[in-house]
Amino acid sequence: MKRIGILISGRGSNMLALADAVKHGRIPNAEIALVISNIETAAGLERARELGIPTFVHSHKGCTREEHDRAMAAELRQAGVDLVCLAGYMRLLSPWFIREFEHRILNIHPSVLPSFPGLDAQKQALEYGVKFSGCTVHLVDEELDHGPIVKQSVVPVLPGDTTEMLSARILAEEHQTYIEAVALILSGQFHIEGRRIIES
Ligand code: GAR
Repeated sequence: MKRIGILISGRGSNMLALADAVKHGRIPNAEIALVISNIETAAGLERARELGIPTFVHSHKGCTREEHDRAMAAELRQAGVDLVCLAGYMRLLSPWFIREFEHRILNIHPSVLPSFPGLDAQKQALEYGVKFSGCTVHLVDEELDHGPIVKQSVVPVLPGDTTEMLSARILAEEHQTYIEAVALILSGQFHIEGRRIIES
């Protein structure tokens, strides 16, 4: 049984999608071992508790990035976590944490990387005028929104779209794409060549 730890900062809809996929066997032989948030009031924390998933809150205030990450890593290790999934976790991770869980951290980002990394990706896409956007699940390395790409999906940008409309269209894809990416990584049916993830 593979154990998944999920880091959130807010709503947690991707976390819920993963929890649902685990429950229904779309991510086989896995369980959500722990949900961690740096924000005490994150709505996703309450949802996780309702599902009976263990939670841990550790505010990033008043400690260095690495101190914060070491506290999270201790909890993840204690929970026996094999894979860390960032799901709307809105903080950079320290190089220490990334090395500690090398090739075992996934992130979801609401654009087709390498376009529009960083904050407000959907707004960036709309303002740039692209006709398609989407989402990317990638392994986390020490550069922001940068590591090897596991899965991507695209959606059209439609005339009259607001940031909210585009974000909602992308979010629906995020949930499916994240499930597929986690299932692939946990299956081990891939290898990495440079930046490329080759499915077996
Ligand atoms: C999602 O759109 C996710 O891709 C994005 O935050 C949202 C979290 O929603 N993440 C980033 O922008 C990270 N750079 P959720 O809390 O409902 O999963």
